[in-house]
Amino acid sequence: MEFKIKTGDLAAHKTPCLVLGIFEKRKLTGPAEAMDKVTGGRLTERLKMGDLEGDAGRTLMLYDLPGLAAERVLLVGCGKKKEFTRANYRKALAAIAVVLQQSGAGEATLALPESRPEGMDVYAGVRDAVVTIDDKLYRYSATKEDKQAPKTPLKRLTLWVDTKPETAPAERAVRHGRAMADGIRLAKELGNLPGNVCTPSYLADQARRLGETYKALKVEVLEEDRMAELGMGALLSVSHGSRQPAKLIVMHYRGTKSDTKPLVLVGKGLTFDAGGISLKPAAEMDEMKYDMCGGASVLGTMRAACELGLPIHLIGIVPASENLPDGAANKPGDIVTSLSGQTIEILNTDAEGRLILCDALTYCERFEPAAVIDLATLTGACVVALGKHPAGLFSADDGLAEEILKAGEAAGDRAWRLPLWDDYQSQLDSNFADMANVGGREGGAITAACFLSRFTKKYRWAHLDIAGIAWLGGKEKGGTGRPVALLTQWLLDRSGATE
Ligand code: BES
Ligand code: MN
Ligand code: ZN
Repeated sequence: MEFKIKTGDLAAHKTPCLVLGIFEKRKLTGPAEAMDKVTGGRLTERLKMGDLEGDAGRTLMLYDLPGLAAERVLLVGCGKKKEFTRANYRKALAAIAVVLQQSGAGEATLALPESRPEGMDVYAGVRDAVVTIDDKLYRYSATKEDKQAPKTPLKRLTLWVDTKPETAPAERAVRHGRAMADGIRLAKELGNLPGNVCTPSYLADQARRLGETYKALKVEVLEEDRMAELGMGALLSVSHGSRQPAKLIVMHYRGTKSDTKPLVLVGKGLTFDAGGISLKPAAEMDEMKYDMCGGASVLGTMRAACELGLPIHLIGIVPASENLPDGAANKPGDIVTSLSGQTIEILNTDAEGRLILCDALTYCERFEPAAVIDLATLTGACVVALGKHPAGLFSADDGLAEEILKAGEAAGDRAWRLPLWDDYQSQLDSNFADMANVGGREGGAITAACFLSRFTKKYRWAHLDIAGIAWLGGKEKGGTGRPVALLTQWLLDRSGATE
């Protein structure tokens, strides 16, 4: 999909489909009003017939309008003008994508309301359009024939801006949005692939492919023997219960010549989580193929950073493994020694994410990072606490936490901060090791974060629990590509591209 920016005489603009916005109740937006005049009031006439009130996401296709160079006009409801929210804006965008994809247009021009949702400027409005529409157009077809594949897929979308000076920020928004959308696509696709395809080795191959595509990206994959030499006893203990060898994927992006300390992203790449000997119940266990979504989002974000050529120093790390029951698998009560030297009593083999992450986090120390963010589908408890809307954010560093919250708001990919107080640490006490890998039922997302905090003392660090946001279940089952948008926004902010 190609996105373009244009301005000028809308009535004379040739396009297979012109998309105009309508507010409730039957109120024309600026561009719609202008086109209504050109057509001698045809739009108002049609609205009077009662086919479209303006509810967000409702649409109406019109043909044969006099005075317009456009072959069709698609009217889309944007909700109430007084409460033009980002949610309604996105609803309208998503609806447009669906209708256009099913229409024979193949190409369209969007002239949405001149007024934007509160707090959104031209840049934000255009970028949201690009990301939301591309998100809606994604279809999975790797292992299934796409029977509803559109005959005339949407190939080009032109976004109309009112004035010439708006074209520069709008074009920047297209560039940023396109990169984000591609990162999101990659994360979704990897998440959706089944566990027997998307193994740790497959993830490593995908990372290598990124390294071949982008010159500034160097990819290194640590094998199990190397991890053993280093002393990654926690990570390896998880993969010993699986026939798939673990991989530690290290992606090094240098977008700047200066010797700045790197930002590091660490993503949980558990390609299937059966729970191990502490086996999970059968219901919905298939969804545990999504337990590598943290890692997938690191790949997606690396891709976006490469695509944009961001002037930053960035490292992406993905510890990848399966968690299965097997004769060599961890047993409850087993004690392992982590790369940090701290010993861990594994009371529940299903709390494996923190075991693979803790060694990856210790490994980060060698890069002397400016900041580290890890993202992991870490706990069901986080989903219970926050539901499926925000990611759970944990950090002892208020500055870093603020940056992440702000990036999430700006990208429409939000996080919500939960406490990381020392009060919770004692729940991890063990009689036989430096710590246990679980802290009981209470505050499960927090004690998981507390566990990780014991391996991140040497740098600024934040943890995102993405268990609730990385995929959707039920009829809409599929990866979301979250939080690629949040992370890319954070990198854009850090690189000064959004100032
Ligand atoms: N990958 C799961 C977390 C998860 C569960 C994410 C369900 C999304 C939906 C993780 O490895 C896990 O099993 N966590 C346990 C921790 C518990 C044993 C302390 C959990 O959440 O039940
Ligand atoms: Mn688990
Ligand atoms: Zn897991």
